[in-house]
Amino acid sequence: MTDQSSIRTINLGLLGCGVVGGGLVKLVDKHRDDFRANGFELRITHVGVRDASKKRGVDLSSLKVTTDPMAVANDPDIDMLVEVMGGNTIAVDAGCAALSRGIPLISANKSALSRSLGRYIESAKQSGAGIGFESAAAAHIPIIEVLDRSLACEELTLIKGVINGSTNYILTFMERAGCEYEDALADAASKGFTEADPSLDVEGIDAAEKLTLLALKAFGAYVAPDSVHTEGITRISQADIRLALALNHRIKLVAAARRTDDGLSLRVHPALVHRGELLADVDSEFNAIIIEGPGFKELTFLGKGAGELPTASAVLNDIVKLVRQPGSGSLPGFRRAAADLPMADTSELKLCYFLRMGMAGADVNDALSALAGEGIDVLSHATIEHGGENFLGVITDVIEERRMMATLPEISRIKGVNGAVQLIRLDKDNYRDIVEREQSTYFGSSLKRESGPGV
Ligand SMILES: NC(=O)c1ccc[n+]([C@@H]2O[C@H](COP(=O)([O-])OP(=O)(O)OC[C@H]3O[C@@H](n4cnc5c(N)ncnc54)[C@H](OP(=O)(O)O)[C@@H]3O)[C@@H](O)[C@H]2O)c1
Repeated sequence: MTDQSSIRTINLGLLGCGVVGGGLVKLVDKHRDDFRANGFELRITHVGVRDASKKRGVDLSSLKVTTDPMAVANDPDIDMLVEVMGGNTIAVDAGCAALSRGIPLISANKSALSRSLGRYIESAKQSGAGIGFESAAAAHIPIIEVLDRSLACEELTLIKGVINGSTNYILTFMERAGCEYEDALADAASKGFTEADPSLDVEGIDAAEKLTLLALKAFGAYVAPDSVHTEGITRISQADIRLALALNHRIKLVAAARRTDDGLSLRVHPALVHRGELLADVDSEFNAIIIEGPGFKELTFLGKGAGELPTASAVLNDIVKLVRQPGSGSLPGFRRAAADLPMADTSELKLCYFLRMGMAGADVNDALSALAGEGIDVLSHATIEHGGENFLGVITDVIEERRMMATLPEISRIKGVNGAVQLIRLDKDNYRDIVEREQSTYFGSSLKRESGPGV
């Protein structure tokens, strides 16, 4: 039994009481007895919001409520600051002001952290205050803790995943409802799965910000979100989804940070993921993260990447960690190994590609022969009829990105190919192995391939 007279009180300043902040207020109340049993009490004492008169799902009537975030950050009575407000200006000022005077910061604000990392690090360095940001990377998947501690001394070569729930919901909806991107986006918005401005999600920016935080912890290197090669999902069509399925793949927005001898590459883009891979099965608002390293090969994590309670719970776990181990969670983290590695040139990457072509009456075999004539080795192909048009989809063998891009205009000029050619990268670059495995398992009949020069 904990001696009740020795219970330590921790006063929390809370910036933001929306989805995540409101969830935190509920969870702090729910776990009160657990905290006391461990010798402390958490009290939210000062809350910063934009509109103090707004009706909320939680009762703030006994708390100090302000519309000035700096008043919370500078409140001499708080012991920790929780920033779940969002934004890139006042949120950073407030977080850094608290850190500078030794107040630990727990933040779910991936945008502010990833874009102003240097300021946070400097502010924390002065005072030694800890920073917790588990909720900012993949909400309820405790990946920061794993990278920082459980795998602290492992050499890592890759961290990748599906880390944006909104785009994953949209792509899953397109596949299930058979609709185009715009209709799936409208459905996601009506169910509250997108921000008021969905561009941060659908253009891949949110995923790039999260990838920056993951790469920091995985490789000890800071790559600003604007330096991440970023493509969103707005150009994905129903024809792409159907052709990918016919080729035994699903389309996901994949974020990947890879370390090679040439340097680091950080990329966010739609990718065809083979249906035998775990990432292909990650649906709707779920997130998954895969880590690779020579010492342990592969580790996989699956969980909820957003939402009131999953995110608030990750925030609360960070708070409890910092109560129990003050100063823990400091930036930039344990690893420094790759801090000076250069960014690899994306155009030199060697990948497999999916190409989709409209076929205005062209013969498939002729088109495949023409692709071979352009130096494109096709590993598998499928055709579909969609919206009164015929489409050919092919998966290429490994080819240097620079060469693939240079060949695209030639492909669109192949006789009978109609309009621009769609290009989507494959998640795996060893697709030839997968094809050979499938052929030996299914005698070559599982893929809906037409005859032709492909495998
Ligand atoms: N929602 C998720 O699932 C999730 C998951 C991971 C990370 N995050 C991150 O967590 C943060 C919060 O997300 P959320 O979904 O909880 O957002 P939200 O529902 O929009 O809540 C934002 C809160 O911050 C307050 N606020 C915003 N700007 C302010 C300002 N200038 N001054 C004072 N208060 C201000 C708002 O006040 P009012 O209520 O008065 O408007 C609101 O209470 C964001 O950085 C987000 O990226 C969210």
